[in-house]
Amino acid sequence: MSTLVNLNPLALPLTTRRLIIRDYAATDAAAVLAYTQDPAYWQHQRAEAPTAGQIETLMQWVVQEQSIAPRVTYYLAATRKDTGEIIGEGVLKVVNPAERQGEIGFGVAAKYWKQGYGNEIATAVLEAGFQHFKLHRVAALCAPDNKGSIRIMQKLGMAREGLLRDIHFARGKWWSTLIYGILDQEYAKIKVVKKA
Ligand SMILES: CC(C)(COP(=O)(O)OP(=O)(O)OC[C@H]1O[C@@H](n2cnc3c(N)ncnc32)[C@H](O)[C@@H]1OP(=O)(O)O)[C@@H](O)C(=O)NCCC(=O)NCCS
Repeated sequence: MSTLVNLNPLALPLTTRRLIIRDYAATDAAAVLAYTQDPAYWQHQRAEAPTAGQIETLMQWVVQEQSIAPRVTYYLAATRKDTGEIIGEGVLKVVNPAERQGEIGFGVAAKYWKQGYGNEIATAVLEAGFQHFKLHRVAALCAPDNKGSIRIMQKLGMAREGLLRDIHFARGKWWSTLIYGILDQEYAKIKVVKKA
């Protein structure tokens, strides 16, 4: 197993059974705004629904990040192969290249929940973290009551590593954070089992 992180840019898009997971363009702002206005999307997240202005600023930042070299931050649009519609997002970050630490994130528009899309996105970004970047450990975080997110992390083979209690105060209450993680040797074993 390699002990060096690979910081060559990730080849995009990532393609899954039903999705094309690609870089955002500034013109995606309206589509992202549309699905992030649903309060259900923020039920288990301490942030609140962003305004149109915040989404535009975020999109500009995300697009600028795409040309930073070496690129360690990938905020990606998950789009349906058949229609091109943005149905969610995938995130992959190399948070500490020297120690090959990474983090993934994922989100799906509420109207598409429980159809396997979250799992499809998470599987793709995790695979890129290990196969392309040669990460040693990949983590994912969520609130303790985010059952869908926890189930996805478990299905990826991630282990529960800890609970940071009341680590943030937002929207008038304390928020705890669950940390899940998976190591490269664990991921390699899962891949072997899946191939068999
Ligand atoms: C969490 C989230 C990504 C799940 O996406 P999804 O597309 O519904 O997930 P999937 O359809 O791939 O489901 C994966 C598993 O989780 C289960 N699941 C999904 N939502 C669930 C819920 N609310 N309660 C219990 N189980 C749930 C599914 O049944 C499935 O389990 P199974 O394969 O054993 O049947 C989605 O709810 C979401 O985007 N929420 C808002 C953003 C967010 O919280 N992102 C995580 C950030 S930290």
